[in-house]
Amino acid sequence: RTDRTFTMLKPDAVEKGHIGAILEKINASGFSIVAMKLTHMTTQDAQAFYAVHSERPFYGELVEYMTRGPIVAAILEKENAVEDFRTLIGATNPADAAEGTIRKLYAASIGENAVHGSDSDENAAIEGAFHFAGREMF
Ligand code: CMP
Repeated sequence: RTDRTFTMLKPDAVEKGHIGAILEKINASGFSIVAMKLTHMTTQDAQAFYAVHSERPFYGELVEYMTRGPIVAAILEKENAVEDFRTLIGATNPADAAEGTIRKLYAASIGENAVHGSDSDENAAIEGAFHFAGREMF
């Protein structure tokens, strides 16, 4: 079964010049890129995207971080995409992330963790539609 997931290479990963290395790893792990762009989220965008976290103590910090520079937003296709991509990126906290995962390699902290991966098929569709129009998905 071919599924889709949504990812963002977050501002820290873009700032450090890790776009190429992370995309290489994504492709090498069997994911196809079906939508992709460099974009800069506004405060309103980030507040809306992370509305589920609005009551968390780190919400303000999260919005600041995600809006401080451009991100790469992408939709990825693969069998079992959501689960396999979360395995590839590793635990939210890079200190807990498995060897070889994207967060183990490129993330600095639980807050600045380099990459996003949707946590369900439903959220993948919602998050993809947040960033891309139908004609931008291939
Ligand atoms: P992600 O799981 O992609 O989406 C929610 C984000 O909130 C998470 O990545 C981190 O960037 C951030 N986050 C989660 N937990 C914490 C925390 N305890 N402190 C700061 N930021 C966090």
